[in-house]
Amino acid sequence: MQDFSDSVAATPLRIGVAGLGNVGATLVRILQKDGVELTKKLGRQIVVTAVAARSRSRDRGIDIAGLEWFDDPVALAKSDGIDLFVELIGGEDGPAFAAVKAALEMGRPVVTANKALLAKHGVALARMAEESGAQLGFEAAVAGGIPVIKTLREGLGSARIARVYGIMNGTCNYILTRMGQEDISFAECLKDAQALGYAEADPSFDVDGFDTAHKLSILATLCFGYEIAPDKIHVEGISKITQADIKVAADLGYKIKLLGMAQRYEDGIEQRVHPTFVPKGSAVAGVDGVMNAVALETDHVHELLLAGPGAGGPPTASSVLSDILDIARGTRVPPLGVPSQELLPYKQAPLRAHDGGFYIRLNAKDVPGALAAIAARMGERGISIESVIQRPDLHVKANAADGQPTRTVVLLTQQTLETTVRESLAQIAADGFIVGEPQLIRIELL
Ligand code: HSE
Repeated sequence: MQDFSDSVAATPLRIGVAGLGNVGATLVRILQKDGVELTKKLGRQIVVTAVAARSRSRDRGIDIAGLEWFDDPVALAKSDGIDLFVELIGGEDGPAFAAVKAALEMGRPVVTANKALLAKHGVALARMAEESGAQLGFEAAVAGGIPVIKTLREGLGSARIARVYGIMNGTCNYILTRMGQEDISFAECLKDAQALGYAEADPSFDVDGFDTAHKLSILATLCFGYEIAPDKIHVEGISKITQADIKVAADLGYKIKLLGMAQRYEDGIEQRVHPTFVPKGSAVAGVDGVMNAVALETDHVHELLLAGPGAGGPPTASSVLSDILDIARGTRVPPLGVPSQELLPYKQAPLRAHDGGFYIRLNAKDVPGALAAIAARMGERGISIESVIQRPDLHVKANAADGQPTRTVVLLTQQTLETTVRESLAQIAADGFIVGEPQLIRIELL
């Protein structure tokens, strides 16, 4: 057995934690409770010595009395009393960015769970880390407790990946799952997700799809070797999903999931985030509640699915801890999988026809000829209709401006371009046969 007693490894690794929210407080609690076990595993003690947060007096259920307190996370990041800086503040700029930058510039290792920060500044931060020789760990930034970053950087380090997709937001998956199980409103489910500690400080990041987009952009870079490009993602959230959509999906043999998907083509990368009809028998359809799943389509191992808890204090803190352990052991990998100067400039793939078709829900005026006119408009643009559903249980009470009552109509199309469907729906709206915004959801035959 290796004896660490007189080696450098025998010196404790002193951790400074900035941000004592759900994840930060859980991390401190785990380190205080399991410190001895971890020391046995590592042959080196890991101790939290200093913290920074907004309020010193807030009760977080942890003992911070013996820890050095900093009001300013940048001062903590630069402090002589720590060897490793953990950033759990959140936010793409502001104190999180300033503190991480300060630590990396002085060659101090950093662990962060901040996907927004990495999506915006990941390439610059990786460059800083490479220049100063600091390690940068961000396992907790994508898919909570699932070790997907490590899998991509190390386990699949030599693989060529064609596509990555999955459920990357626990809050949205929790909401969609509950709405599928109970006749419960979107707002009520979101409130519960917040109470369970899943949602972002501003939950619109979750439900509007941006949190998934941040995570997807990081995964896409690790998969394809292009610079991180969160602004080149088509993003739609789940706030317009209704019980009617969920009901029809279930009746047709699908579930609705908020998917992030990035695909490599010969002529560039396509990245998209949107609610998606997925077949009930597909692997991602079985991933419910706060669980996340990331599917990786590779050359030699073919399809790999990693699934696990995607949000919440303990799973996320566990990923932070796994980065801390790697750094304590001296593991070194380029933060983004390849040295940052090797990353290719981002190239967006041109639009392609989507081979799974679309689900369209319309509020059509209840007048003779409305359905025929809608179908005709679609036909004009070469959109082939797979099926039409009109059922009394789907109707929502709505009247057109002229007082005419409406009926809910659901159409499923065959393979077509999304732009063609959108143009056709705009034309149908201009004809005056529908009321309100149509609901348009992709069907993916995964
Ligand atoms: N708000 C995020 C989610 C937390 O719900 O997935 C984990 O990144």
